[in-house]
Order: sequence, then structure tokens, then C-alpha cells
Amino acid sequence: MMTAVAVAGKGGTGKTTLAALAVRYLLGKGETPVLAVDADPNANLGQTLGVEVGLTVGSMREQGFAGERDIPGGMTKDQFVEYKMSEALAESDGFDLLTMGRPEGAGCYCFANNLIRRFMDELAGGYRHVVMDNEAGLEHLSRRTTRKTDVLLVISDAGVRGIQAARRVLDLAAEMNIEVGEGMFVLNRTSNKSLAALTPEIERLKMPLVAVIPEDQGLFEAEVDGRSLLEVSGSAPAVIASNTLFDRIFALR
Ligand SMILES: Nc1ncnc2c1ncn2[C@@H]1O[C@H](COP(=O)(O)OP(=O)(O)OP(=O)(O)O)[C@@H](O)[C@H]1O
Ligand SMILES: [Mg+2]
Repeated sequence: MMTAVAVAGKGGTGKTTLAALAVRYLLGKGETPVLAVDADPNANLGQTLGVEVGLTVGSMREQGFAGERDIPGGMTKDQFVEYKMSEALAESDGFDLLTMGRPEGAGCYCFANNLIRRFMDELAGGYRHVVMDNEAGLEHLSRRTTRKTDVLLVISDAGVRGIQAARRVLDLAAEMNIEVGEGMFVLNRTSNKSLAALTPEIERLKMPLVAVIPEDQGLFEAEVDGRSLLEVSGSAPAVIASNTLFDRIFALR
């Protein structure tokens, strides 16, 4: 069955890293094709997956789509939007990457989101799984880019603030009645020692902790070199730990 996973959490906690590792996992299992969606205006999932990103969904307007009058003759609005979406889709081996790009005006992502909402379901239907990376903060939840998600993976680093931010994301998702099958909490860059220190706060906030991903020098080095996470060694501790998490999410064991 198709699984749609969205990643959320405080800034810099490892959302993009976990999204890329999820794609890597699915490729390794032959669970293809995968649709990877970069819904962060500061798009960098492409880099993490070693994909060259050309157009973005958000750039459609700059590309000349300000309104109906810009639609070439003979095309309906739907056809035009579909065509533009396909232009923002970068194809790679076993997966495609859709990059949302920058919002239209200050703080407004409406244009891109209205389009993506409308065509996402249709587009997603052509894939085995969908993995969506999101921006930090909660705004994207109110913009409802993460609708119809089987698993909302909420990431925190080894800090109380990250855990509290994760709690707010889970609460907001529930409050807003966003269709999330299951909210899962992941601690990233966390040692056993820091886990012990954080456990009281995790319990106090009733966080559904499903995985602890260790600090991994290999990931750090890939970032420094600008290398894709698809190239990092399979014996890297963070890859091994996240594979166990993804076994559970995708139930492919
Ligand atoms: N388990 C880990 N071990 C070592 N480094 C990590 C680990 N997870 C993430 N990092 C590093 O932490 C930094 C931030 O990670 P990442 O970009 O995935 O976070 P993010 O939540 O997507 O950030 P943003 O909010 O800016 O989008 C990156 O340099 C990444 O390589
Ligand atoms: Mg990110």
C-alpha cells in the first residue's frame, strides 16, 4: 500500500536528513517509484538527494503565470498547471523530486499551495510512496500542504526546546484536523546519555517516541562535502537507526 510520510519539527533538527534517508530506504527496498516533495521555501532536499533542481512550483508565477491571460491558447487552466507541475518535477533513478520553491509574496504560499493541493493527489497516485520535507515552524500545517498524510514524522534534536516544539506540531496537527494517520516522534543526534536526561520531559509531554537517531560523523561529512545522502555508507549509525524506523513505518520487513 502507498504510504505518505511528512517530516516536521524545529529548525535544524534533521527534517531534510530524515526525509532523504526515507527516500534512500525505499530505493534500497526497491519500493519505487518514490515521489519526494520539498515543501520548504529554502529548498535543499534536492541537494541531499543529489538531484539538480531546475524550476520550482513557486517559480511558475515568475515564469509568466500571473493569471488566466498568460495561458497559451488552446490550453485549459488545468492543462497549463499540470504542464507547469511536470516542469517542476526532476526525474531521478527510482524517484522524482517536486520542489515547491519560494512563496509568491511575503509570507504567502497560496499560489503554489493551491496548485499543489489540487494536483498532488493526482500526481501522488502514480507513485509507490510519497515523502515530504517541510519547513520549520507550524505555518505549513495551516497552509495545509501536508494533507492526507499517513505518518507525520516530528523530529527533535537532543534538547528540551526541540521536544516542546515537536509537541506543538503534534497538537496543532490534531487541532487542525489535518488528516494524519499517525504522529511519530523522533529524537535525532541523541546519545543514550542525553536520552536519559531528556526522558522526564518526553514523558511529561507524552511524546510518542519511536526512534532515537545517533549523532553521525558520516552525515556531517557528507554535508561538509555537499555529497548526497544516497552515497553515505550503509553502515553509518544514523542510516542503520533510521532503517529500523522506516521498517516500522513502511512495514516492509
Ligand atoms: N544524526 C545526525 N548526525 C550528524 N549530523 C546530522 C544528523 N542529522 C542531521 N545532521 C546535520 O544537521 C544539519 C541540519 O540537518 P537538516 O538540514 O536535516 O535539518 P532541518 O531540520 O531540515 O533544517 P531546516 O529547518 O533548516 O530545514 C545538517 O548539517 C545535517 O547534516
Ligand atoms: Mg530542512
